[in-house]
Amino acid sequence: MAEDLSIATGTKAEQYESLVPQIKGLLEGETDLTANLANVAAALKEQFGWFWVGFYLVKNNELVVGPFQGPVACTRIRKGRGVCGTSWENAESIIVPDVEKFPGHIACSSLSKSEIVIPIIRDNEVVGVLDIDSDDYDQFDIIDQKYLESIVALIEF
Ligand code: SME
Repeated sequence: MAEDLSIATGTKAEQYESLVPQIKGLLEGETDLTANLANVAAALKEQFGWFWVGFYLVKNNELVVGPFQGPVACTRIRKGRGVCGTSWENAESIIVPDVEKFPGHIACSSLSKSEIVIPIIRDNEVVGVLDIDSDDYDQFDIIDQKYLESIVALIEF
């Protein structure tokens, strides 16, 4: 795997189409979970420049922040709390165009305006979530959801 990410231009789908094989390459042959989560967060941040990209992992029935790129964030989130805890509870991806309109949204930063959370499901259990925040409104849609779900599916837990 080349050490440098090749940054694509074009539509969002074209950017993901370029990124996904590179993420596959980063993950290939590496079984260390922390290393893999760190590189996936970094690759997404580098391609798209979002405000915050990272993982929360289920530990002792709480979400605990894992590898991420961006400003410091809330450390622990309980099931059903905020966007992340709701995605965990329902085992469903959630797109939030305006975080102020999501009841119970946890504001780790007042700069975050829109958000997408993808649950990571293994053996029918949510083992963590991928959380991405933008400092602009309405930055995420079904295209992001589809590609991000395919990216988290590549990570070996
Ligand atoms: N906003 C999230 C909390 C995590 S931070 O955005 C990094 C939520 O409501 O669950």
